[in-house]
Formats: sequence, structure tokens, C-alpha cells
Amino acid sequence: MSKLVVKNVTLNYANGNKSNTTALENINFSVSEGEFLSIIGPSGCGKSSILNLFTGLLSASEGEILLNGKAISGTGLDRGVVFQHYSLFPWMSAKKNISFALSQSFPSKSKKELTRIAEDYLGAMGLKGFEDKFPAELSGGMQQRVAIAKALAMDTELILMDEPFGAVDSKTRVVLQDKLLNMWDSGEQKKTVVFITHDIDEAIFLSDRIIVMSSGPGRVKREIAVNFARPRDRFSLTKNAEYAHLRNEIVSLFYDDLASKIGGEEVVL
Ligand SMILES: Nc1ncnc2c1ncn2[C@@H]1O[C@H](COP(=O)(O)OP(=O)(O)OP(=O)(O)O)[C@@H](O)[C@H]1O
Ligand SMILES: [Mg+2]
Repeated sequence: MSKLVVKNVTLNYANGNKSNTTALENINFSVSEGEFLSIIGPSGCGKSSILNLFTGLLSASEGEILLNGKAISGTGLDRGVVFQHYSLFPWMSAKKNISFALSQSFPSKSKKELTRIAEDYLGAMGLKGFEDKFPAELSGGMQQRVAIAKALAMDTELILMDEPFGAVDSKTRVVLQDKLLNMWDSGEQKKTVVFITHDIDEAIFLSDRIIVMSSGPGRVKREIAVNFARPRDRFSLTKNAEYAHLRNEIVSLFYDDLASKIGGEEVVL
């Protein structure tokens, strides 16, 4: 069954009295229950815009988006979100940011229980010892990890992540990818994840399917199934001929788009 369905969606941003920006044009795709779907595409192609339609912070100018078969009509506690720019309250500690969010979703749980869950998820993100720090006292990558811990701790069926590892160094990124997959795999009921990234290897390693977008205005260029068995081992995967083939296919889809934008100069990905 489809968790999310995007039907003929167009999104225009009004720019005051200047002409509108069409960020997305006639987008169609769906996300199955329990699927890990990545969306990849050049900067400005509308990835965050799609995510914001899923959060309910934006509404489509045309078309519709169904969540569990019903049109999305605003934000909801049924979706865990990691925004591209950190979404923490600066006046709350890391732990408090999470336990406060949890208290909205689980009003019957005790403060002690919520604090324990917050500490567990911070620990899982490698932030033991930083629980009482305020966002301004944490690095960008650490703040992003708190935001990820918060989204996962909410234990929603749908998790929306917009470049969650964008500000994390490459070593930590690998560790966090593994942690995310473990958490996604371990629940009794698999969560549905929509994951936005610029990183082709990250998209292949994590996903069941990848949507490659083209820019100006954003459209779905290709849907690519990633059929490697799970659990995946990144080292053997990268030596696999099929992996190289898939990677090249995505690079060339990216390159077509970038080359047409910057006049065919060489682009290194
Ligand atoms: N609030 C806004 N008002 C007007 N135009 C906007 C607004 N937000 C985004 N846009 C425009 O919509 C298009 C898509 O933006 P979006 O942020 O969705 O891209 P993106 O794929 O997430 O890019 P990046 O990879 O750089 O994060 C861009 O042309 C952008 O300028
Ligand atoms: Mg974005």
C-alpha cells in the first residue's frame, strides 16, 4: 500500500509583484509503506519544496498529495521531520529539545520517561555527555544529530529528512548512515523514510528506490530501483559491478542537467 502519493503536483512561489517561480511542475510518484526512498537532484530543483509539501508547511498550487489515502491538510505529529537547516529551539538544551517534542506526542508519559528516551537517542547519535548543552554550544553537525535524534525518538511511521548529514564530516556520516539504517530496520513495523541528499553513494547505500530530479522547474527525471540485499555492506557494495553501473547512470543523469546549466564545462561529482 502507498504511504504517500504525489499526483500531478505543481508548486508556484509568489514573488511579490514579480513573476512567480515554478519550483515543481507536474510531479508524480508514490512512496510505499515501509520504503526507504531518496530524492536526489541539483541545487534548486525543488527537493526541499517537496519535503515541505509532505510536512504540510506548504500546499500544492495544483494536484494533490495523499498521506495514508487522505489529502494532507497541514502539519501533524504523525510525521517526524529533519529540516535542511537545524530546527532546534535555541533556549532549550539538546535533551530538552527532544523531551519537549516528545511531550507533545506522548502527553501521558512521565517527564522521567521522556528524559530517558531523549538520553537514549542522543547516546545512539554519539552525543553522550552533550545532553545539557544548548544548540549554540554544539557544532553544526552535532546540532544536526540532535535534530535526527529528535525525529527518530518521535517514533512516527513516516520520517522526512532533508539532507540530514549535510553538515557532518565524511567519517561521522558513514557512522550515522549505519545508525539510521539500523533504526529503520529494527522496528517491528518498518518506517517509511523520504530522504533528500546530494550524495549519490549515500542514496544508493540507503535506499530501496531513488528519484532523480531535474531542475528548472523541478520534474521527476527518473525513478531507479535499488535492489541490493539488506543488510548492506558498503565495502563489498562499492566493489560490485552493478553498483558501479547504477552510480554511473545517476552521475550521467546529473551531468546532463548540470552541463546544460553551466554550458557544458566539466563537472566533478
Ligand atoms: N520561499 C520561497 N519563495 C520563493 N522562491 C522559493 C522559495 N523557496 C524556494 N524557492 C525557489 O524554488 C526553487 C526550489 O527550491 P528548493 O529549496 O526546493 O530547492 P532544493 O532542491 O532543496 O535546493 P538545495 O539542494 O540547494 O537545498 C528554487 O528556484 C528556489 O529559488
Ligand atoms: Mg534544499
